[in-house]
Amino acid sequence: MTIIVTGGAGFIGSNFIYYMLDAHPEDRVICVDKLTYAGNLSTLKDVMDNPNFRFVKADICDREAIYQLFAEEKPDVVVNFAAESHVDRSILNPEVFLQTNVIGTATLMDASRKFGVKRYHQVSTDEVYGDLPLDRPDLFFTETTPIHTSSPYSSSKAGADLLVLAYHRTYGLPVTISRCSNNYGPYHFPEKLIPLMITKALADEPLPVYGEGINVRDWLYVEDHCKAIDLILRNGRVGEVYNIGGHNEMRNIDIVKMICKALGKPESLIKYVEDRKGHDMRYAIDPTKIHSELGWLPETKFVDGIRKTIDWYLTHREWWEEILSGEYQAYYEKMYGAREELKPEAPKSDETKNPDETPETPKPDDSKREPLPIG
Ligand code: NAD
Ligand code: DAU
Repeated sequence: MTIIVTGGAGFIGSNFIYYMLDAHPEDRVICVDKLTYAGNLSTLKDVMDNPNFRFVKADICDREAIYQLFAEEKPDVVVNFAAESHVDRSILNPEVFLQTNVIGTATLMDASRKFGVKRYHQVSTDEVYGDLPLDRPDLFFTETTPIHTSSPYSSSKAGADLLVLAYHRTYGLPVTISRCSNNYGPYHFPEKLIPLMITKALADEPLPVYGEGINVRDWLYVEDHCKAIDLILRNGRVGEVYNIGGHNEMRNIDIVKMICKALGKPESLIKYVEDRKGHDMRYAIDPTKIHSELGWLPETKFVDGIRKTIDWYLTHREWWEEILSGEYQAYYEKMYGAREELKPEAPKSDETKNPDETPETPKPDDSKREPLPIG
């Protein structure tokens, strides 16, 4: 099988390429990446010489380049990871999000139609469902939860999802979509919460927690996401959406404190700063469909995954130090320099969890589930 993986020089795409070349040595993988600020060729250095791998620098919006590549490679499968992925950047500058996330998706699907691709897979996000209230732990996102976005990023991803489903219905393009919760693990760009806090703590610099730090995310180790996508490609039903998440809800502040403890750094580094505009309160995935149809379950517990991740950042300093020394600095100044620091008192509902335990998370309970008050 020949698989085109877009965005493979980024965080999840690169992990997916490593996973696929290892799990399916019979397959050929072609990575297409524009190498934006988030794409890093050094991330792929260990597969560059693999005869089953090819790297092509191209923009997914560049129709000519994409058609030429599809004509050359005649891919069986396309997995689209390529995206502008950072919510904060989408608040600063939405336009490039619309370009890459919507127009880029359409371009890839047009090429997939023209060259008879057998499966087009869209890597989407739980953010398309909007957020859940903190005081309703019985509510979870299912695949039928209405789309209800908050940020330019999530809106662009939702727009792409709608296009993907429309290409299936209108043109019969064999598509699947996965909507995953927050990933963490190796090669995570240091603008995102977990790698930002690890790298800042290692430098003894302030750890900027938005608002009260009580927003909840549902964290999944990146390899578990890669395995889920592989299963969907092989056994998933065409035209279907699959949610991916591991019932691992954590408050931001608890994660930051856990990182401080693991690195032996004082919590006094934590600075509560002005909140993100439109900040989603809680994400929580119900993964029943992918579990019951495809047998997928997350394998890495958070307590193990976060240790592996911290160890990875400790042993791969050259990877992130190079990023921090480049144009990223200018972004950091722009994003955080003007952010007002909030009163340094602890947030109201700040009961730190035992970092040695995987936190207890509410499980979906059909008898209690009610329609979401949104949409
Ligand atoms: P990332 O920002 O780390 O990587 C994105 C990659 O896409 C980079 O290599 C970049 O160079 C490339 N890219 C950007 N614009 C491009 C263009 N126009 N043409 C070609 N390549 C381009 O992102 P990530 O965190 O790895 O996310 C990958 C995908 O997974 C995205 O679609 C994102 O929406 C989705 N997702 C991410 C998470 C998460 O927690 N990170 C969770 C769920 C879904
Ligand atoms: O849920 C899936 C999504 O997860 C993906 O679709 C996105 O591509 C990915 O970036 C991620 O989005 P989030 O906005 O949840 O991730 P981020 O790491 O930016 O922020 C996680 C939480 O931490 C969020 O509540 C904001 C908070 N935060 C983030 C940063 C960067 C802080 O408190 N301080 C920070 O400096």
